[in-house]
Amino acid sequence: MTMAAQTNSITAEILGALPQAVDPLALSLNENPFPPLRAVRKALIKSIDAANRYPEFLPQRLRRLIADHIGVPEEQLVLGAGATGVVMHVLQALTYSGDIIVMAEPTFDGYPIIASIARLIPVTVPLDKHGHHNLDALADAAAAARVVVLCRPHNPTGTMEPAPEVMRFLRRVPPDTIVVLDEAYVEFAAAEQRINAAALVTRFPNVVVVRTFSKAYGLAGLRIGYGIGSAELTKALWTKQLPFGIASTALLAVAASYAAESELLKRVRLITAERRYLQKQLSAMGIYSTDAHANFVYLPSRDRPWREVLADSGLQVRHYSDGGARITIGSRTSSLAVLSVMKKMLRETTRC
Ligand SMILES: Cc1ncc(COP(=O)(O)O)c(C=O)c1O
Repeated sequence: MTMAAQTNSITAEILGALPQAVDPLALSLNENPFPPLRAVRKALIKSIDAANRYPEFLPQRLRRLIADHIGVPEEQLVLGAGATGVVMHVLQALTYSGDIIVMAEPTFDGYPIIASIARLIPVTVPLDKHGHHNLDALADAAAAARVVVLCRPHNPTGTMEPAPEVMRFLRRVPPDTIVVLDEAYVEFAAAEQRINAAALVTRFPNVVVVRTFSKAYGLAGLRIGYGIGSAELTKALWTKQLPFGIASTALLAVAASYAAESELLKRVRLITAERRYLQKQLSAMGIYSTDAHANFVYLPSRDRPWREVLADSGLQVRHYSDGGARITIGSRTSSLAVLSVMKKMLRETTRC
């Protein structure tokens, strides 16, 4: 094989392995089921055309753009490779090896991993059987910790602790314990349930609110996230911001997404309507799912692990060791595929 043919075949193999933008069965990673908006795609192509050039040394323009859009002072914002990158940055900048990090169990898979990379000792606090946090137990554990994580909405259960309870929790956490308030899915939650991040970090300077463009904005492949904190905290983080660490694609994709926000919000509404549809249908079948506020539903374990029930369906969902499953909201085709498996399961159960 010539060198050129070899290169072409490698490219073909890599291209063939790329995930499909639209795939009704891909329900395991809480991705956005819609492909990039046309305007976002156009902006991305523009940024790729200058891929021989470095992005900004520090992502100042992107920081200003996001800060202006969400209404926080720009010096109170830091950026990272997704929410994961922001949290990693917080842990690397503000903790020492051997410090304690408190998190719920189960939680977003990334937390135990980044805690281990940062050489922290994880302490977990179990959720209750409806997927809610025990905020008192979390605050008790936080008293001896350097970091405590609270996801709102929570992954995998989709539950959202009420704002007054979160305030009570924050008042109980010692001021030198960093609170990571993970809002990766906040755009899917009802407006009246959201907490004003700017006001929150003023009141609690130990809180970092973490958000992402991976979910509601549908840009998971570009790895863009941000954190909002008090000026004091973000100053410490910004001085350790990785040089050239945010790709040039990010600035154009975020700018184009903000310009097309009404279209994006329409998609968010379609996803939340689909979530309600799926929950209602499941409930009508007698299948319990936790109170969902994000772009997924969580089915706690039943007599038979969901892994077995869904085994031959072709559906990719996230399974948990206790038999529970988290299913990302996709299109109506996705929901019907899920419901058809459930109907089959119920038919088989009544036959036994
Ligand atoms: C609660 C939570 N936080 C953070 C993330 C990470 O998102 P990102 O793609 O921005 O790193 C996820 C991803 O699934 C998540 O569920």
